Amino acid sequence: MRHISIAIDGPAGAGKSTVARRVAKELGILYVDTGAMYRGVAWLAVQHHVSPEDERALLQLLREHSLRFEHHPSGELEVIADGQVITPYLRNPEVSETVSKLSVHPGIRRLLTEWQREFAQRYPVVMDGRDVGTVVLPDAQVKVFLTASIEERAKRRQKEFTDKGFSVSLQEMQQAIAERDTRDASRSVAPLRPADDAHFIDSTGKSVEDVVEEILALVERVP
Ligand code: C5P
Repeated sequence: MRHISIAIDGPAGAGKSTVARRVAKELGILYVDTGAMYRGVAWLAVQHHVSPEDERALLQLLREHSLRFEHHPSGELEVIADGQVITPYLRNPEVSETVSKLSVHPGIRRLLTEWQREFAQRYPVVMDGRDVGTVVLPDAQVKVFLTASIEERAKRRQKEFTDKGFSVSLQEMQQAIAERDTRDASRSVAPLRPADDAHFIDSTGKSVEDVVEEILALVERVP
């Protein structure tokens, strides 16, 4: 595969990671989950009782602890904190609650953006997040803004939570997602918004296969 960057952005629960993972597999290239990187920082903050509001303390935490991202042979991005694989804990409710509070800080974003750009310089990637098409990889050959109705997104996230043994009502889930979307879209640095040249895909009522096909068709059209 030639050197290509595919950016998939959108709100929580739109199906970005499922779709991005599948597209990467189809093309035989790397999938980079930028949300997992922010979640890795959130996990460290929760673990060490650092407030997500305190940027200086968070940056200090990142200097004192090692946070690494490695590609597992399966193609997944593995998040490793102080030598421990923390990938299975990144979607826990406490981490989900903390993450969008700390992702507003410019210093944290600068650091993670650098790491993300390094991946894309070294490898062809499918990268998903909130600001990939707008800030991280503005020259990506394919940009997608993937969304779905709030009801559908809440249902998908609720299923993810219950599959892991956490109990949460659909209403609570909907509220948590709406709050996170508002925080992500209203922050001053790299807010969630579609790039001017992004292709909009609404996944409400569509299968994963349909969305993957739509994106692969866009990739085929890249000169
Ligand atoms: O995609 P995911 O739900 O794992 O992202 C978790 C949180 O990380 C988002 O709600 C957002 O606050 C933050 N994030 C971000 N920029 C990205 C990816 C994630 O601010 N590129």
